[in-house]
Amino acid sequence: MIDIRNIDEDEAKKQLEFLSKEIEKADIAYYQNDDPYLDDAKYDELRHLNSALEAKFPHLVRDDSPSKRIGAKVKSEFKKIELNVPMLSLADIFNDGELHDFITGIKRFLNSSEDIEFSAEPKMDGLSFSAMYKNGVFVKGSTRGDGKIGEEITENLKAIKGFPLYIKGDVPLTFEVRGEVFMSKADFLKLNEKNEKENKKIFANPRNAAAGSLRQLDARITEQRNLSFIVYTWGDVSDIFWNTQDEFLKYVEKLGFPVNIYNKICKNENDLLVSFKNLMENRANLPYDIDGIVYKVNSLELQKRLGFLTRTPRWAVAHKFPAEKAITKLNNIRIQVGRTGALTPVADLEPVNVGGVLISHATLHNEDEIKRKDIRIGDMVVIQRAGDVIPQVVEVLKDKRTRDMEEFKFPEFCPLCGAHAVREEDEAVRRCTGGLTCPQQAVERLKHFVSRDAFNIEGLGDKVIEDFYKDKIITTPYDIFTLEKRNKPQDLFSFDESLNLENRDGWGSKSVTKLFEAINKSKKITLQKFIYALGIRQVGIATAYLIAKHYHNFTDFMEAMIKKNISLLINIDGIGPQVASDIVEFFNEEHNIDVIKKLLDVIKIDDFDEIINEDSLLSGKTIVFTGTLTMFTRSEAKSKALSNGAKVSGSVSGSTDFVVAGENAGSKLKKAEELGIKVISEDEFSKMIF
Ligand code: IVH
Repeated sequence: MIDIRNIDEDEAKKQLEFLSKEIEKADIAYYQNDDPYLDDAKYDELRHLNSALEAKFPHLVRDDSPSKRIGAKVKSEFKKIELNVPMLSLADIFNDGELHDFITGIKRFLNSSEDIEFSAEPKMDGLSFSAMYKNGVFVKGSTRGDGKIGEEITENLKAIKGFPLYIKGDVPLTFEVRGEVFMSKADFLKLNEKNEKENKKIFANPRNAAAGSLRQLDARITEQRNLSFIVYTWGDVSDIFWNTQDEFLKYVEKLGFPVNIYNKICKNENDLLVSFKNLMENRANLPYDIDGIVYKVNSLELQKRLGFLTRTPRWAVAHKFPAEKAITKLNNIRIQVGRTGALTPVADLEPVNVGGVLISHATLHNEDEIKRKDIRIGDMVVIQRAGDVIPQVVEVLKDKRTRDMEEFKFPEFCPLCGAHAVREEDEAVRRCTGGLTCPQQAVERLKHFVSRDAFNIEGLGDKVIEDFYKDKIITTPYDIFTLEKRNKPQDLFSFDESLNLENRDGWGSKSVTKLFEAINKSKKITLQKFIYALGIRQVGIATAYLIAKHYHNFTDFMEAMIKKNISLLINIDGIGPQVASDIVEFFNEEHNIDVIKKLLDVIKIDDFDEIINEDSLLSGKTIVFTGTLTMFTRSEAKSKALSNGAKVSGSVSGSTDFVVAGENAGSKLKKAEELGIKVISEDEFSKMIF
């Protein structure tokens, strides 16, 4: 964590730009793809740092600052629903001091020294929903989306057991209830067990499982999953029959909506602290995940006076729990070998319950981490599950060492193929030098080749790849595309029945046909996906995209790389000499070229083509975006503008054709008005693009 006390303006500017991008990426992974890669603590740290920098340098707050955004834009396939009353987010606090500041702030704002009553409610770690009832009939359901526009999930909500389709009794004509959909820890474990057997997606935690189950275009899938829900607030209502949060909760409970049984009224700050402590201690025994407590000022009248900040209410806050920890024995340090040969140490643990989830492995990151923490086999260790992702070993309890335990010696040979494992200077990882002769690297590369962002071949899950590799059915990517042919008898006398996939355990004619269909469909692939699929070290989706954009077709790219002609490559913004050298190295390995050449005979790689729409109203126009956009992210809006043939500029001048003004637009809008340049809203912009 950087120290912001000595930070200067230039550095702050850079940091804010970096944070905006990082938080946006993390938000997209979390909200849109249900696949987070940052743990909660790290994410909170980034957001905290962003707020702290903004507080210190208010004039540097960016148009696209994370503090102005709620969550991430909605997935496009879902129907969009406009939320009349925005679904807001909550500010986080992490300790007693911050709670005290929160309460003092409220009192100061209200100019009152009296105790304030709060409703303290477990913060459910699920997915928020809105359900609209008209005349007591459930008519529309939505996710939070970006807070203003959500995704329609009406049918999905109906598919949850016990979700009220009608409400009886005296209810407002328009009555929107809001709450959380979640999955119990037990149902999450069951679902993962089932998915593992069926080679389907394994969810990182109950929250992702709930999100992945609710946001299904086919509500029948939602129906098959066990989801639960509770109600904790309201949105658009034509009448309010309650004066406090507590009265609301009692009212909806009477109407038949489940509310949390641990909701509690707290009379003062001390009550809140006691509530927090009690709930934290009981957290592991709860059947579902919670990640803190939400404190809401109970009186609606006071809520109204306190009002809102940009994306959070002033009358509520989320007090987050620290990461869940447990102590257990480290039984073994196992070395895994990845696609690029990286040796990664993993701790095999005596299974232990951490916050209701049984943990038996933890990541050890790399060789230096083991050395730094002096982790030894047989040690008692503290592990932590920080919200989601993989548990970590936080520290070793050295005083619990009962005998002389040997220091862990990181292997210098690949434990799978025996080749030398080398650690280059300045590198944190040691790598197996076996290349494709290392079975583990070969398998990992195959898994990568068929993965979702690459060839995306459904039916070739991790387990199938492992089995097919072991039985030598698929040992190189090329083998995937000859599988169908090899599976048919060439002549009736020599066909080896054991090669017939239909005879394998777990396979039948239907699944085999489906697999071949998926393989055939994948034969046509975009240039960027193909480059990514090759699994070159350091070439992720973004780098592959940059390469595709600059080289346009695969042959040109490959030839340049074989000739080690990297002049174009290293001039691409975002690709450094290190990456370039990894790429050249890849194309100068004979076995890689062999496989690629064979692949080129059976697949079709589409040249890079950014479709520019000449008919668009924006074609040839220069446009400037300003203010906060709510329907698109900045980069999304820019790329839409570009593919509609527009030029996007950062500043308003005489040659600007349009200014698209989002919320809180400032100086650029003013300048546009002064210069008489046409200003359009985000909504108008969205109607002009294809
Ligand atoms: S109230 C304006 N109550 O926390 C306040 N939220 O960071 C609206 N959450 O999006 C939310 N349990 O998904 C509220 N008892 C609770 C909650 C809760 C979980 C989630 C919700 C919201 C997020 C806010």
